[in-house]
Amino acid sequence: MKLVLRIGGSVVASPFDPALLSGYADLLMKLKQEGHVVAVVVGGGSLAREMIKVAKEMKLKEPKQDEVAISVSRLVAQLLLMKLGEAGARKVPVSIKEAADFVKNGKVVVMGGLKPGMTTDAVAALLVERIGANLLVKATDQDGIFTRDPRKHRNARKLDMIDLDDLTRFLESEKHEAGIHQVLDPEAIRILKKRKTRTVVLNGFNPNNVLLAVKGKKIGTLIE
Ligand code: UTP
Repeated sequence: MKLVLRIGGSVVASPFDPALLSGYADLLMKLKQEGHVVAVVVGGGSLAREMIKVAKEMKLKEPKQDEVAISVSRLVAQLLLMKLGEAGARKVPVSIKEAADFVKNGKVVVMGGLKPGMTTDAVAALLVERIGANLLVKATDQDGIFTRDPRKHRNARKLDMIDLDDLTRFLESEKHEAGIHQVLDPEAIRILKKRKTRTVVLNGFNPNNVLLAVKGKKIGTLIE
């Protein structure tokens, strides 16, 4: 299996969770030992958002605000990468090409953001496209994709499955609740539509959920 794993900053870095980060390192080693190819994209979580706020209050322009957030996401990536030792790439890649080269050399890639104006979802989708991944897992702070924002609506229902077109419609619909926005960024969906890739959105607080998705077990929400 060629897997791109997008780990939400909301999961491992809001606040920083050393045990969970270590748990992900163990999971990545296990996946590699089982012969899977893995590339990981992490976000910067609350520290990234805090840095954006600081930059904004300093009247720095949006691309600069994004740049500090990217730096934070790369710091998170560095932590995870260091824990992987020899199994991991030598450094946090700063381009898709660099990431693909590490993958080609049999290393586990862990990276953060790439350039202003993107999200790490889009980075993950670009990586899927470049390395020809057959699975994208988004490990997030919710159990999957819900009909409404589960943080605000108790009657929100988790979907076991949704197709990319329906998800796009969801996102485009003016009536949709904020929250579904965070499910998967529209730019990422656009890229994923070009090459149909099995995508699973699941609860990232238990790394074992990722293992279940790799094994094809029913978990989270399957997008296809
Ligand atoms: P994300 O919102 O993608 O990461 O990026 P996250 O912290 O994992 O978010 P959750 O956990 O899913 O909620 C955080 C910010 O970093 C900048 C953007 O400002 C983005 O909102 N960023 C990230 C970029 O500018 N470019 C990138 O390539 C990635």
